[in-house]
Amino acid sequence: MRYISITNFFLVLAVAEARTFNVFNACPFTIWPAIFTDLTAGTAVPDFPTGWQADSMTSVSFIVPDNWTAGRIWGRRDCNFTVTSGPTCLTGWCNGGLECDPHTGTGVPPASVAEWTLQGDMSQDFYDVSLVDGYDLPMMITNDAGCPSAGCAIDLGPICPSPIQGPFDSTGFPVGCSSACSANLDGDPTNSANCCSGSFDTAATCPSSGVEFYSFFKGNCPNTYAYAFDESSGTALWTCSSSLNADYTLTFCP
Ligand SMILES: *[C@@H]1O[C@H](CO)[C@@H](O)[C@H](O)[C@H]1NC(C)=O
Ligand SMILES: *[C@@H]1O[C@H](CO)[C@@H](O)[C@H](O)[C@H]1NC(C)=O
Repeated sequence: MRYISITNFFLVLAVAEARTFNVFNACPFTIWPAIFTDLTAGTAVPDFPTGWQADSMTSVSFIVPDNWTAGRIWGRRDCNFTVTSGPTCLTGWCNGGLECDPHTGTGVPPASVAEWTLQGDMSQDFYDVSLVDGYDLPMMITNDAGCPSAGCAIDLGPICPSPIQGPFDSTGFPVGCSSACSANLDGDPTNSANCCSGSFDTAATCPSSGVEFYSFFKGNCPNTYAYAFDESSGTALWTCSSSLNADYTLTFCP
């Protein structure tokens, strides 16, 4: 039987059980980040509220179980949680208020979304910045394990093509850019080449060339997940060996 000292035993446990996530708002304005975990995929949830106010140039850090599965973090813009009906934010609002409902509180498009599955297949962490549901803030995922960064630092709102541009804030500034799917450009979200749904629901029947404005998103933000089957681009989904126990930082407006 292999001898393992008490000290080393606890050291191993401490290293293996959790990761530290930092969420930094480098935007020159307040945002309201939110967290959602798909609880049909796993029970592990971050040890942090599902929504909070992040003033400009502030950060928070919290513990995330190292098997967090199907988790996402995004930012909401121009929120007002005293409204009693209708959207609480201009972008990314959720069912709930400041804190999103743990079961139904996904962000409403358009919103840029950072996604993680830690300890996924082949002992890899998987992560990406998704623009599948459109864009509302530049964001970058970095880590302390030497694995690739993912995301996009460009503000797509002002350069967004007019059919998908918006919403606009009270000054008329575009704070978002919808995907062709979420803008419902082809009129039928249940059978759509833009949404990869219905008869277009496989990688083979939903090539990126059939998705309107794909090249706008992928051209400006090559290291993002820009449509439902973007994995074939090779620059959409990123991995980091779970054995490296990476801590992750998500920076808004990097
Ligand atoms: C993660 O680990 C916890 C605690 O060991 C366990 O209950 C859970 O089923 C694991 N998997 C997921 C995906 O949450
Ligand atoms: C927030 O919403 C409330 C209720 O609609 C409104 O009275 C208030 O003026 C709003 N606050 C801001 C800062 O827009």
